[in-house]
Amino acid sequence: MDSLEEIKQKIDIVSLISEYVQLKRAGRNFKALCPFHQERTPSFVVSPELQIWHCFGTCSEGGDVFKFLMKIEGMEFGEAVRTLSQRAGVKLTPRFGPPQGEKEQLYKVNAAAAAFYHYLLTRHSVGSAALSYLKKERGLRDDTLARFELGFSPDKPDAIAQFLVEKKGYKGEDVQRVGLVVQGDKGLLDMFRGRIVFPLKNERGNVVGFSGRVLPKDEGKNLAKYVNSPETPVYQKRRHLFGLDVTREAIKKEEFALLVEGEFDLLSCWQAGIRNVVAIKGTAFTEEQARLLTRFTPEAVLALDSDSAGDEATTLGIERALESGLTVRVTTLGAFKDPDEAVRADPARFMRKVKNAVGAYEFFIERAFAHFNPREGSGVAAISRELAPLLARIPDAILQAHYIRLVADKLRLSEDAVASQVEKVRAKESVRAAQPKSTETLPVKPRRELVEEQLVSLALQTNARFLTGEEMEGLLRMTVIVRIQEELKKFLAQSKKFSPRLFIESLPHELTESAASLLLAQLSPQEVNSAPRELERLRAQLVAADLSTQIEEITQKIKAHEEKGVDVRLEQEELARLIVHLGALKRA
Ligand code: CTP
Ligand code: MN
Repeated sequence: MDSLEEIKQKIDIVSLISEYVQLKRAGRNFKALCPFHQERTPSFVVSPELQIWHCFGTCSEGGDVFKFLMKIEGMEFGEAVRTLSQRAGVKLTPRFGPPQGEKEQLYKVNAAAAAFYHYLLTRHSVGSAALSYLKKERGLRDDTLARFELGFSPDKPDAIAQFLVEKKGYKGEDVQRVGLVVQGDKGLLDMFRGRIVFPLKNERGNVVGFSGRVLPKDEGKNLAKYVNSPETPVYQKRRHLFGLDVTREAIKKEEFALLVEGEFDLLSCWQAGIRNVVAIKGTAFTEEQARLLTRFTPEAVLALDSDSAGDEATTLGIERALESGLTVRVTTLGAFKDPDEAVRADPARFMRKVKNAVGAYEFFIERAFAHFNPREGSGVAAISRELAPLLARIPDAILQAHYIRLVADKLRLSEDAVASQVEKVRAKESVRAAQPKSTETLPVKPRRELVEEQLVSLALQTNARFLTGEEMEGLLRMTVIVRIQEELKKFLAQSKKFSPRLFIESLPHELTESAASLLLAQLSPQEVNSAPRELERLRAQLVAADLSTQIEEITQKIKAHEEKGVDVRLEQEELARLIVHLGALKRA
């Protein structure tokens, strides 16, 4: 047995996947909402027996434990193997040992840079001004600086390149690829020079990028207050949440995440004892961030800067979060500019506000009534314009009725009046939604492909030997299916009994995904009961399809020969034979 098989045997796929998705028992399998695409009804299936998973929805992805980890964590194959080997306590054969994936190499470069910057901030005189700013003016404690590994990049353009390349032996090319430096006239220039540096870590604690803030002495000098790493192979702004590596356990435990904008907002909350916090770093909350968060909690409480609490970005952010299935509550900061100020001024009061955060819909409703006067015609119109689309999109009918009543009361109108406006908007939006969106519809498979899949799926689940019989010889055409058929022959040549689990484990890695989908496709009890007949019927369809193709070809040939005056008697006989054969098949 090789290391991969051993790992697969030792890792239980259900407990691994449960760490990311809420699995519910459904007969022999487990089901869940697919973590890889948005959906309302669960089409993500995990089989404890076969130790595989498959999504029968739009994304139609699937495979084994490695594939799952690669998809959900954005890992490369080698990284997934190494991670699971540690978890399973399996020693790896050299093939999976060091020569590392590209991403892992870049994480290393970043980690070395973070350590360097952190050292300069906390231990070196070059960082003393920055350190005193962080401690005295921003009120940060030593343990906080250490936990989040804050750093300082000296105002020396080539210090980082010198350290990483000359001292540590990393490739200058890699240092550029992670966006730490740019090529200048006189060599590599540090992007973060003269700034306080925050390592940006992914949820597993790998350093994926950096952000840097100017020192107060440089504020207003026409420099951006913050600079961030560019998009790199390891850093995608859209799917990053600052602090999550440190706060994920607290988020799970508290069952909600406090969402703030900036690094300092997060650090101040953390120091005040609010440990279930993440920062979106000034971006509008994205779908990817929402999905990442749903792995740890079903609820987000937004504490966004007061200047932006009313703007489009926040509204969109809340809507993204709701769409991703997060419950959203919103807290407002009153006179304070941001959570950093609010929590430092009065931690107890801020915590109360977080606890009493209102639901997203209440927030939108209160905001509309604060902006516009419901006692004026134009105000009512504006409120209606803002709230009707929102109310129309509430998925739960009872909840929707509740908010319609609330808005009607506040407007001193009848519920019917509000409900009919909401209905109008809904009708318009559903027309728009009905337009096909290319990414949401499954590609239509050709008929032959479908029949081959059905046949192989039914056979693998009821009678695998059917596929290796003589009558199946040459009938299957799809490359992957043919390969699975070949692997099956090999497997059955060695073992008397067919075990789906052992079969899956024996497959080359690139075939697991397809095999998983075939083995997990759900069969109805009737299909199982009438499997022998059904298999024959599907096989006959494939034979019939082949005959039709041959008939088509020979008809073409006869036509061509006749035009040239060539004798076609033999072909005619062959054609007649094919037609009789096809007719017999169809009557059967
Ligand atoms: N930000 C950024 N790039 C900028 C400005 C802001 O990435 N050019 C991000 C930073 O993560 C910042 C957050 O947006 O923390 C909020 O920005 P802002 O409100 O301007 O800064 P503060 O958090 O108040 O910054 P500070 O407390 O450091 O003064
Ligand atoms: Mn601030």
